[in-house]
Amino acid sequence: MSSKLVFLPGDGVGPEVADAARRVLDAVVNKFGFDVSIETFSFGGAAIDSHGIPFPDETKGACLSADAIFLGAVGGPKWDNASVRPEVGLLEMRKALDVYANLRPITIFDGMTSLSPLKPELAEGVDILIVRELTGGLYFGDRLEGNDTALDKCEYSRAEVERVARIAFESARQRKGKVTSVDKANVLATSRLWRNAVNELHQNEYKDVHLEHMLVDAMAMKLIQCPSAYDVVLTENLFGDILSDEASVLSGSIGLAPSASLGEGTRGLYEPIHGSAPDIAGQGKANPVGAILSIAMLLRHSLAQSEAAQAIEQAVQQSIKSGHGTADIKGSDSTRQFTDRIVGLLPG
Ligand code: NAD
Ligand code: IPM
Ligand code: MN
Repeated sequence: MSSKLVFLPGDGVGPEVADAARRVLDAVVNKFGFDVSIETFSFGGAAIDSHGIPFPDETKGACLSADAIFLGAVGGPKWDNASVRPEVGLLEMRKALDVYANLRPITIFDGMTSLSPLKPELAEGVDILIVRELTGGLYFGDRLEGNDTALDKCEYSRAEVERVARIAFESARQRKGKVTSVDKANVLATSRLWRNAVNELHQNEYKDVHLEHMLVDAMAMKLIQCPSAYDVVLTENLFGDILSDEASVLSGSIGLAPSASLGEGTRGLYEPIHGSAPDIAGQGKANPVGAILSIAMLLRHSLAQSEAAQAIEQAVQQSIKSGHGTADIKGSDSTRQFTDRIVGLLPG
């Protein structure tokens, strides 16, 4: 049976990294011999230009009936004053797909410590999975936008916290067995609810997992001071957005970081964590690895093709270890050259 994949290249470097992801996907489909149908749809600023809105109905219909969706990136200065911004389309899509758990792994593999801005002894062995709540909190609360005052409402229900915490605890069981839950419980009511709900679920169902709590300001510091002390980091939507950009730098570049957004079932939305990078768009400079590793996550979570996923991860590691790469990781390859190198390292 053929799996249905939807590709949304989006804006800025989005189409460049989506093209790289597509070429790696085509290569493993050929090598491992499974069936996929891939269709590309308009999304983000590109869809504002073609359809007047960032998340057109035909794109939404295709996403809802797909097995998995790959997104490049959306946004850019051209649409900053659009009546509905590209970013709003992304939030609508996450909500429509009900992908409430955003998994953002940050790993420094062997031979990569020299890319990190941290001293090698601090960078060594970093292997963090950020589990970011993705469909609640400030991103989805009521908003009032006035000239003199504005309001963004932050609301979480116990059920919303529990379902994402469950993903964090389950992930920890497959990893080193530790969850660090990050909040701002010394100030925010939503954080106190968050902490209570996480504690209760832990007590009732996950006592075998080691749980600790950390305030978000301290966590921002600890991520730099002792990143290898962390395994699974569970947090709410906005804190997860910020901490994941910070954590991505530990490995050398935000361009290396993939993500999977999951809900119930196997359907998922896969995207590198970086944005449309308008400062380097159209120049062949974008690091394609975050997008390519997002394809590996797609193959593993949505298509149960773990061998193909592993082959991609190994080819990426080998290519980085060989000292090649795009400028953000101290290399001189273009996006296309680096992608060709990775494709060339896939098993024959
Ligand atoms: P950004 O992530 O696009 O860029 C931040 C910095 O990282 C820039 O210096 C950029 O050149 C660099 N960078 C990003 N991706 C890279 C890659 N693949 N290779 C090498 N370097 C890379 O963040 P920004 O500049 O704050 O945002 C630009 C636009 O992207 C905004 O409109 C924002 O809303 C949007 N955005 C979209 C997504 C998404 O689609 N998921 C994520 C983040 C930001
Ligand atoms: C991300 C991005 C998005 C977010 C924006 C573009 C809405 O920064 O995927 O990290 O804040 O979730
Ligand atoms: Mn972000």
